[in-house]
Amino acid sequence: MTSTGKKAARSARKAGAIDWSGKTALVTGANRGIGYETARQLGHAGCRIVLAARDPALGEEAAAQLGAEGVRVRLERLDVSDEQSVKDCAARLRQARVKVDILVNNAGIYDRTPIFELQTETFMTVFRTNTLGTLWCSQAFIPAMVERKWGRVVMVSSGLGTFSRGMLGHPCYAISKAALNALTVKLAQATPDCVKINAVRPGWVKTRLAGALGKDTVEKGAERVVWLAMLPDDGPTGGYFHGRRPSRW
Ligand SMILES: NC(=O)c1ccc[n+]([C@@H]2O[C@H](COP(=O)([O-])OP(=O)(O)OC[C@H]3O[C@@H](n4cnc5c(N)ncnc54)[C@H](OP(=O)(O)O)[C@@H]3O)[C@@H](O)[C@H]2O)c1
Repeated sequence: MTSTGKKAARSARKAGAIDWSGKTALVTGANRGIGYETARQLGHAGCRIVLAARDPALGEEAAAQLGAEGVRVRLERLDVSDEQSVKDCAARLRQARVKVDILVNNAGIYDRTPIFELQTETFMTVFRTNTLGTLWCSQAFIPAMVERKWGRVVMVSSGLGTFSRGMLGHPCYAISKAALNALTVKLAQATPDCVKINAVRPGWVKTRLAGALGKDTVEKGAERVVWLAMLPDDGPTGGYFHGRRPSRW
């Protein structure tokens, strides 16, 4: 076995020492794509799932599918681009005494407008969804993780908003994901290591967002997210990953 393989095996063993059936994972944008599959895999690993979706009908359908597979799932309406919607969701969960141990900030949108044609409204819609929404969800759920001295937070970022890969995405999207990476670093700097906050490049995954460019299966894309959501207690924080390897920002 290579040293990377040994490391991964060690990390999986340590993560195995955690009782995942006692953990609750909230996944945003979980009605389809990488979010749905992440929720599915975390659910099959034993976690209780809060399936967050902005469209209740789509959310209900996805939650019913997971429930039929034996996953313990609760549906929450959550539009991450609306700060009040995030606050309302957090309040409902508090009221129901649901403690979020794992937060997967997955919801995201793409936009192809060239930079000199970009209108403020378009920029703000993408930025509110991909970046501010993540800040609001982090503010809503991370402080309680810190109080309980345990948490995992995954930011679903993108190679298209990665400086070391040339920031090749369309302007709005690339900027929103680069800012999401910066947000990951700042949140991790402000949070003790018992709450692990990392960003991931899921790769080109066959979803509606990637369209014809998708290469990897949604299962493989989600596995990269789930690995960070299920890090052992001595796992990294404040990092950026692709697969199980560190990525340059
Ligand atoms: N696919 C790839 O190759 C790839 C590569 C790099 C990064 N990513 C990132 O991976 C994440 C998931 O994307 P995907 O590929 O799975 O795309 P997808 O199939 O288009 O799914 C996007 C999800 O985000 C939800 N969403 C969008 N705006 C939202 C909002 N304001 N509030 C709540 N949910 C919202 C969508 O809900 P609706 O169904 O209601 O629209 C949908 O559930 C995104 O952050 C994306 O940037 C994807």
